[in-house]
Amino acid sequence: MSDDAIHRGLDGVVVDSTRISKVMPEINALVYHGYPVQELCENCRFEEVAWLMWHGELPDAKQLAAFEADERSRRNISPVLLDVIRKSPRNAHPMDMLRTAVSFLGMEDSMPEKADAATNLNRSIDLLAKIPTMIGAFTRFRKGREFIPPRSDLSMAENFFHVCFGKVPAPEVVKAFDVSLVLYAEHGFNASTFTARTVVSSLSDLYSGVVGGIASLKGPLHGGANEAVMHMLKEIDDPKIAREWMLTALREKRKVMGFGHRVYKHGDSRVPTMKKYAQKMAAFTGQKKWLEIADILEATMIEQKNIYPNLDFPSGPAYYMMGIDIDMYTPIFVMARITGWTAHIMEQLASNALIRPLSNYTGHAERRVVPLGKR
Ligand code: COA
Repeated sequence: MSDDAIHRGLDGVVVDSTRISKVMPEINALVYHGYPVQELCENCRFEEVAWLMWHGELPDAKQLAAFEADERSRRNISPVLLDVIRKSPRNAHPMDMLRTAVSFLGMEDSMPEKADAATNLNRSIDLLAKIPTMIGAFTRFRKGREFIPPRSDLSMAENFFHVCFGKVPAPEVVKAFDVSLVLYAEHGFNASTFTARTVVSSLSDLYSGVVGGIASLKGPLHGGANEAVMHMLKEIDDPKIAREWMLTALREKRKVMGFGHRVYKHGDSRVPTMKKYAQKMAAFTGQKKWLEIADILEATMIEQKNIYPNLDFPSGPAYYMMGIDIDMYTPIFVMARITGWTAHIMEQLASNALIRPLSNYTGHAERRVVPLGKR
C-alpha cells in the first residue's frame, strides 16, 4: 500500500455524517445545529445549549424551566460515590478521578441493560448534573476541606463556583465561565468525541463511551492543553521575556501548547469570543500580565510560523483569573463537552455502524514457529 493511501491520524478523512455541529475552517466559523457559536454565547446560557445539543432546537421558556428543574434535582451523588472521591489519592490528576467517578456512576445504574434513546437521554442529563458535584468534591477533599453539597437555586455556572469555593462570584465572572462552557460544548469529530463514538459503535454503553472520551481528552494535544498553557504563562511570568521565550521554543522545535489545530489553519472560530471574556476577567481582576504575555506569544508565533492560537490559549488564563486550580481546567472541559459527547453517542447509536478501520501491515514476513525448547 502506498503512503498516499494511508491517512495517518485520519487526517482529512470523513468517517460519518452528523447533524450536531459544523466546523468551517475556511470562514473560521462553528455552528451547533445551525446556530453560530458566538450568537449562542451572547444570547444563551449553557443550559440552553445543552438542550439544543440533545434536541436539535433551542428550548422555549417552559421547556427550559422544566429542564433546569430536572437537572438541578439530580445534582447530588450517592454517599458511596462521594466516598470513592473522598478516598481518591489527593495528588491524583482530577481527570483520573473523573474518569473513575463516571465509571462508578455507570455501575450504579439500576437498568444497565437498557440502551434506548430515552434512557440514554436520562443518563446524559444525570451526567451533566453530577459531574460538577464530582469536580467540587475532589477540589475540596484533596485540600482537606469539607464537601459542599450542590444548591438547586443556582445555574450550572453559579453552582460550579459554589461547590468548589462555597461562594458565587460576581456576575461578570459567572458570565465568562458560562461562555467558556458554551464554547467547549461541542466541536465535531475531535479525538475525544470520535473515541466516544468508537466505543459505543460496538454497542457498548453510554458511560463507557464517556469514560473513553475523558481518557482521550486528558492528553495535552487535546483538552489537556488549557492546563499546559497556564503553566507556560506562569513559567514565562514577565512580558519582557515572552518574545525571546517563543523564539527559543521555536528554534528548539518545541510544540507550544495552545497553538495550532488539526482543522483550523487560519485561526480558531472560538478564540475571539473567549479572548474578549478573558480580557473582561483581566479588567475585572486587575491581572493584566497574563494576557500581555499571551499577546506577545501570539504575535510572535503568527509572525514566525503563521500558526494561530486555539481555544485553550485564552481559556487557560481566563480560568486562572477566576481563581480555579490549574489542573481543574480539563475537568471543566468535561463538564461542558459531556453535552457534545452524549449527543454524538446517541446519534451514533441511532444509526450505528461498527467503527473498524484497516491497517497497513509493516511487520515481519510470514515465518514458522520454532518450539520453545529449540529457540
Ligand atoms: N507549536 C509549534 N509548532 C506547531 C504547533 C505548535 N503548537 N502546532 C503545529 N506546529 C507545527 C508542527 O511542528 C508541524 O511543523 P512541521 O511541518 O515543520 O513539522 C506543523 O505545524 C504541523 O503540525 P502537526 O502537529 O503535524 O499538525 P496536526 O494537525 O497533527 O496538529 C495539533 C494539531 C493540535 C495536535 C498541534 O497543533 C499541537 O500539538 N498543538 C499544541 C497542543 C494544543 O494546543 N492542543 C489543543 C488543540 S485544540
